Amino acid sequence: MIEKRYAGILGTGHYVPEKILTNSDLEKMVDTSDEWIRTRTGIEMRHLAARSENTSDLCVKAALPAIEAAGLEPDDIDFVLVATASPDYVVPSTACLVQDKLGLTHAGAMDISAGCSGFIYATALASNLVKSGMYRHILIIGAEILSRLTNWHDRSTCVLFGDGAGAAVIGETEEGYGLLSSDLGSDGSLGKILDIPASGVAEPVTHRSIDSGRIYIHMEGPEVFKAAVRHMGATTLNALDKAGLQKEDIDMFIAHQANNRIIQAIAKRLGIPADKMWVNVNRFGNTSAASVGIALDEAVRAGRVKRGDIVVLSGFGAGLTWGSDVLRWIY
Ligand code: UT7
Repeated sequence: MIEKRYAGILGTGHYVPEKILTNSDLEKMVDTSDEWIRTRTGIEMRHLAARSENTSDLCVKAALPAIEAAGLEPDDIDFVLVATASPDYVVPSTACLVQDKLGLTHAGAMDISAGCSGFIYATALASNLVKSGMYRHILIIGAEILSRLTNWHDRSTCVLFGDGAGAAVIGETEEGYGLLSSDLGSDGSLGKILDIPASGVAEPVTHRSIDSGRIYIHMEGPEVFKAAVRHMGATTLNALDKAGLQKEDIDMFIAHQANNRIIQAIAKRLGIPADKMWVNVNRFGNTSAASVGIALDEAVRAGRVKRGDIVVLSGFGAGLTWGSDVLRWIY
């Protein structure tokens, strides 16, 4: 008989760089206002990486507290998944750089490209790899330095993003705990509403693409907004349904922190009260693949998640991608 295993998050961590850029700092850089940014997005400030820091460095600083919280040593990690849209290099993967920096001599490593849904995808994949018996302890990290892929002359995007990393260790749990279900989706036909046009082989970087700003993030904000509300609401309900749960069963809802208006619209649609959500977009901006991991770690360390709670992670982003994970919290 095949042994049934359960797997989920055993520990979390996060890191954001020291430097803070406020809305009033941005007022001096582009034609914007604190009032516009607050009312349209809920963002008040964001953290930016120092030039000496790369995405892999943020990963390491988020990973160490996650490994410690799981009661493990780096040597216990046997696989690394890094979700990022801002890797140190196209090759090698950021996960391999993290593997080296942490000295994880027994670990495989690879990156996931799933935009802002990356942490949701990583949680689902890693939990199922542990359930299959292939690995015991998988380090997952969502990390971004989007400040280096942002056009600082484009007010429609440069006010939105922040840098940071959120990490978790996935391992075996007791029966009935850990990941109960996942729902992952995508629609590549809408890829061009949120992309970096000159970033790969389809449109190689040239002097002209640099001058025209096509090497930076391009987003059709209102289109992405509508798709985010629609898909994050639906994917949350799909994941709950797969777990045999109702929206009323949610104890903590962690949504991708892109825009407070999106988060509130989904909360209203699902009837989730404010005390069952963690919102930090005001302090960190949109940290893309890092946002769910950062918010989850903050909620856990603030004592807002306890053993047995139903925790739902929900994300949406470039691809387009979306997804939700339903977990019964183990610690
Ligand atoms: O993380 C991945 C997923 N990303 C998202 O989920 C982001 C989704 N989109 C959004 O959050 C919102 O669409 C934005 C925050 C990006 C934009 O908010 P919006 O309410 O959709 O504004 P808009 O793009 O429709 O622009 C409204 C107006 C425009 O001016 P006009 O044409 O009405 O005169 C813009 O030019 O606001 C103007 N505008 C700004 N004004 C001051 C755009 N950016 C700014 C700015 N400061 N930074």
